[in-house]
Amino acid sequence: MRVIIRKTYEEISLLAAELVKSRIEKKDNFVLGLATGSSPLGLYSALINMNQKNLLSFKNVKTFNLDEYYGLRGDHPQSYRYFMDVNLFNHIDIDKSRTMVPDGTTKNLEDFCLWYEQQIKNSGGIDLQVLGIGSDGHIGFNEPGSPLSSRTRLIALDAQTIEDNSRFFKDKNQVPRFAITMGVGTILEAKEIILIASGKKKAQIIAKAIEGPITGLISASALQIHKRCTYFLDEDAASELNRIDYYRFVEEAEGTIGKEIF
Ligand code: GLP
Repeated sequence: MRVIIRKTYEEISLLAAELVKSRIEKKDNFVLGLATGSSPLGLYSALINMNQKNLLSFKNVKTFNLDEYYGLRGDHPQSYRYFMDVNLFNHIDIDKSRTMVPDGTTKNLEDFCLWYEQQIKNSGGIDLQVLGIGSDGHIGFNEPGSPLSSRTRLIALDAQTIEDNSRFFKDKNQVPRFAITMGVGTILEAKEIILIASGKKKAQIIAKAIEGPITGLISASALQIHKRCTYFLDEDAASELNRIDYYRFVEEAEGTIGKEIF
């Protein structure tokens, strides 16, 4: 795993955007996995900027989002479909019919979840998955206790997540109690993964996810078994890590040999 640390959120967002750009440029019909939350917003605005300056095109990119609140329609301002439209899709040259977000209003959950997984497979799998991390270690909405082999499914949100996400709703009671999320197993099948985290509030969980044991109680810890995963952290989010010197040394070595070291 690579751990890239910079002083500010802006710096890690730009570096993450450079990585996404370089991967999209290398492959036709690129399949990009996307996340919501505030962590990827800097990345999204950097990608918009690149697109508007004609430095990067999304014409041949297909996207799959990790998750969606169960019960919210795509036109609900707090739905993740709405979030993606407003914060990325509306501003880039992507074909909207190639942007997939789980349907929070589906009546037939099981079939829908199987269908979503099948769509990912039919597209050739996710080339690069973007992740944030919840304060309880969730990726997507894989709350503590999610099987590390889990697939796309309905999940009940943890009280901590409802509390954290209530800032986007009028009050806590309006936060949906359920969501549809790709599973940890689904996420681990992405060919490459990047996780962006910033701020002191994420420092403890980041240290546990990167340097603690792999456990179903911290879904992000499962990323330790992935072959090609890069964490982009600002100094606050990295502040509880023990092996910062090593991560910096590896990055320096990458510069010397001109190759990423996972
Ligand atoms: C939500 C999303 C996650 C996201 C998390 C953290 O729960 N389902 O995908 O990573 O929030 O959000 P933030 O980046 O705002 O801290």
